[in-house]
Amino acid sequence: MTVDNDDKWAALRQTPPPPDGSDGEAGPADPEAYTGKRDIPQPQPLERHGPARVIAMANQKGGVGKTTSTINLGAALAEYGRKVLLVDFDPQGALCVGFGVNPHTLDLTIYNLLMQDGVNIEDVVIKTNVAGLHVLPANIDLSAAEIQLVNEVAREQTLTRVLRPVMSEYDFIIIDCQPSLGLLTVNALTAAHGVLVPLECEFFSLRGVALLLDTVDKVRERLNFDLELEGILATMYDSRTTHCRQVLQRVVEAFGDRVYQTVITRTVRFPETTVAGEPITTWAPASSGARAYRQLAREVLAAHDLRR
Ligand SMILES: Nc1ncnc2c1ncn2[C@@H]1O[C@H](COP(=O)(O)OP(=O)(O)O)[C@@H](O)[C@H]1O
Ligand SMILES: [Mg+2]
Repeated sequence: MTVDNDDKWAALRQTPPPPDGSDGEAGPADPEAYTGKRDIPQPQPLERHGPARVIAMANQKGGVGKTTSTINLGAALAEYGRKVLLVDFDPQGALCVGFGVNPHTLDLTIYNLLMQDGVNIEDVVIKTNVAGLHVLPANIDLSAAEIQLVNEVAREQTLTRVLRPVMSEYDFIIIDCQPSLGLLTVNALTAAHGVLVPLECEFFSLRGVALLLDTVDKVRERLNFDLELEGILATMYDSRTTHCRQVLQRVVEAFGDRVYQTVITRTVRFPETTVAGEPITTWAPASSGARAYRQLAREVLAAHDLRR
């Protein structure tokens, strides 16, 4: 079967409107006016943990909020009593840095789990300042894995194999992908139940998402038949620009209710948390950013409950 991608994601492939101001028509500034206001239920406490829902946080564009969303969605899910494992799957190790860990001083990382036999995942996992929130760290070694894996049997299923022993322990496993559509990202998409796409509110990011979704389709057809689009998360939203509002409008046109109601606003509080080495939910618990990621967590949990 061939997919007519140009048709499928036509709304994303349109040319951008003229720059701000020239167009005049600005809708409401409140982003949820576009994404829709639905009732988001309060999460219920769990009686027991697992099996994990695996979510790949993916977008081949850098700087769109993958790592920030992995950390803060993870922290918010843990606040709701879920056991969460965050997988750093980017050789930059930014996820580790976000928890104040220097990845280059670590002896054991995900690289060892991927490439060596007899390494125990429990020996590699790091506990964070948030109860129930653990991290599987990565550093620059992981960039070698991308090359070495090419010659392995079942190279796309390597991460799936690594995560299998802890699937029953965690409620959520979130994989922070690197900004590419290479073998590591394909491994993440193969291991995942759902792919969550952070999308910067900027026109040129729309075309990139069409390409990402083509890759998701391919992985679904060839490697992971049950892979779902977990949701599209609008990030870096700036209510002062009509541009952002137009992008959000178009994203909702293309994806409908697969766009999270929660929209992440652009604020310096996020870069600050990287310096602080902890999630925004603990560093600035009452901030709008912390509240946004808690609301996102409730949306993710509600969707998960509907599925079960
Ligand atoms: N909502 C936001 N507002 C402002 N800055 C943000 C926001 N989300 C992330 N950032 C910052 O933007 C940069 C890139 O974000 P990051 O999450 O690392 O993106 P990615 O993992 O997609 O490359 C980081 O410095 C981060 O602190
Ligand atoms: Mg990142």
